[in-house]
Amino acid sequence: MTETPSYLFYQSRNPRPFLDRGEGIYLFDESGKRYIDGSSGAMVSNIGHSNPRVLAKIKAQMDKATFGYRLHFRTHPSEDLATKTVEMTPDGLDRVFFVSGGSEAVESAIKLARQYAVTQGQGSRYKVISRFPSYHGCTFGALDLTGYAPLREPFAPMMPGMPKVASPATYLDRDNLTEEARGLKYAELLRDKILEEGPDTVLAFIMEPVGGASTGALVAPDSYYGRVREICDEFGVLLIYDEVMTGAGRTGKFLAAEHWGITPDIVALSKGFGAGYAPLGAIVAGARLVEPVLDAGGFLHGFTYAGNPLACSAGLAVLEELQDQNLIENAARMGDVLMDELRALMDRYPFIGDVRGKGLLTAFEFVSDRSTMEPLDPALQAHSRLVELAYERGLILYSRRTRGGTSGDHFLVAPPLIITKDQITEMMVILRDALDAFALEIGVPVEDAA
Ligand SMILES: Cc1ncc(COP(=O)(O)O)c(C=O)c1O
Repeated sequence: MTETPSYLFYQSRNPRPFLDRGEGIYLFDESGKRYIDGSSGAMVSNIGHSNPRVLAKIKAQMDKATFGYRLHFRTHPSEDLATKTVEMTPDGLDRVFFVSGGSEAVESAIKLARQYAVTQGQGSRYKVISRFPSYHGCTFGALDLTGYAPLREPFAPMMPGMPKVASPATYLDRDNLTEEARGLKYAELLRDKILEEGPDTVLAFIMEPVGGASTGALVAPDSYYGRVREICDEFGVLLIYDEVMTGAGRTGKFLAAEHWGITPDIVALSKGFGAGYAPLGAIVAGARLVEPVLDAGGFLHGFTYAGNPLACSAGLAVLEELQDQNLIENAARMGDVLMDELRALMDRYPFIGDVRGKGLLTAFEFVSDRSTMEPLDPALQAHSRLVELAYERGLILYSRRTRGGTSGDHFLVAPPLIITKDQITEMMVILRDALDAFALEIGVPVEDAA
């Protein structure tokens, strides 16, 4: 059979089969092959695929109006989604601005921060400190905050080069500090950086509360979060949580910030917020930031498709589903089950050096030596090889280079929040089979379970 020519170009040459349909945690290609969506796409499909209640609500909106430009009309789906979002986020976050994706949310967060500073007579503040490694998006503003070398390099001359501090990768540290002291040590890096840059030039600090694509579900010690908040307050630096991946219940709370009782000044949401039913994102901020900007003439920012009624009706239906089906609680419960299963893999596979995460945002990382945490030889391309072996067997995983994009291999395991214990067992059978095949390929003997 001859292939129909394709005029579409993708990020790379890696042709995949055509998707036919989705159902719960499963996806089916046109040959009928079934895949467990072990990464919810790119940590997007939080409520699973083809949820009939959500589809019905989207269709009902479709029958009324799919688009009404926000400068011409208010719409109930966008107002209602804003209300529900505020209801589900911690007190103090009570203004919502819609966008259509994660990079747009990050751009919006830093532009709101900047406009707020200008209204406060603090026009000298323009630097946004971020962490390395990190991922905040691919548009220029968001990319400049991103700490992932290969994605930045070609574009570096086109960006101002915002300051970076190290992400708290404490699992790599070989010191005698307690976890608490390590968390504080990493937080102090932010304080040092603010002082080095000049506090009156620093506008904001942005962080993923639980790391995503670039670090593989990295969680900082508890002491880090509160101390970072204190440092930001000390210098009048706005704290932005990029919850594009962690938000909307993924970690077992609606916002990951809630695990540490932190109220950021601005939160960026996307991915699980629309859960794959519509391109959707948002920033959520306090009225204290938004009202002065509106008083001063308005937010000088906006995307044409943002806040359209169709996308907002999808988002509203997704949040209702999270609540009605107790999916955030399920993420916390199933996250514990999954984490235990992943940790158990370390007994069999000597090349798994670390397992980490929160709720259903979990990851494991390969190393060549657990005592030094040296990564595997980058030439093995382990991050893409294991993904292929799992894909062949019907399990979708998401992987990246761990150490700033140049070496290290981690794999995110982040299934839809509807997953059951039996389905986790089913997923682990395929994962073990793929890991066995990988071990054989690289010639590392596995330990037989007792
Ligand atoms: C934490 C974080 N921020 C921002 C983004 C960018 O989102 P998008 O790809 O929807 O633009 C991502 C995407 O992976 C992300 O994980």
